[in-house]
Amino acid sequence: MAYSEKVMDHFRNPRNVGTIDDASGIAEVGNMKCGDIMKMYLQIDESETITDVKFNTFGCGAAIATSSMATELIKGRTVAEALKLTNSAVVEALEGLPPVKIHCSVLAEQAVKGAVSDYYKRRGLTPPPEAYIDELATEHAYDEEEAAVVH
Ligand code: FES
Repeated sequence: MAYSEKVMDHFRNPRNVGTIDDASGIAEVGNMKCGDIMKMYLQIDESETITDVKFNTFGCGAAIATSSMATELIKGRTVAEALKLTNSAVVEALEGLPPVKIHCSVLAEQAVKGAVSDYYKRRGLTPPPEAYIDELATEHAYDEEEAAVVH
């Protein structure tokens, strides 16, 4: 399984690792099939700009690299811009992922959306539809990858 230089860089030197004590929004997402877990923290100001973002991922190298890249892609962006982040954009920014690791990028997209959703809920607001996450999406992606592998 070949990883791009960019994936290896974000795996070896992940950006924005940690926690935010007074986070505006937090989400923990996981994939029951592979056991990986990703937790994301957002600090959001009055103008709905993400001023800080941190993550902790307990999982494979691709899960660490995708969460690291996702934090870089949303830091300094507005909440609305963060909600447009797709797993494909994360994969593209990492210059590709092996086919059996695409589900790791789905987990990163879910972590961002989940943390934004939590931000709305903490303010007593209904999250916009773009913040909705299909919690089984990463597991479905994992199943498709497994089915495509010739054992
Ligand atoms: S192997 Fe499942 S998230 Fe990476």
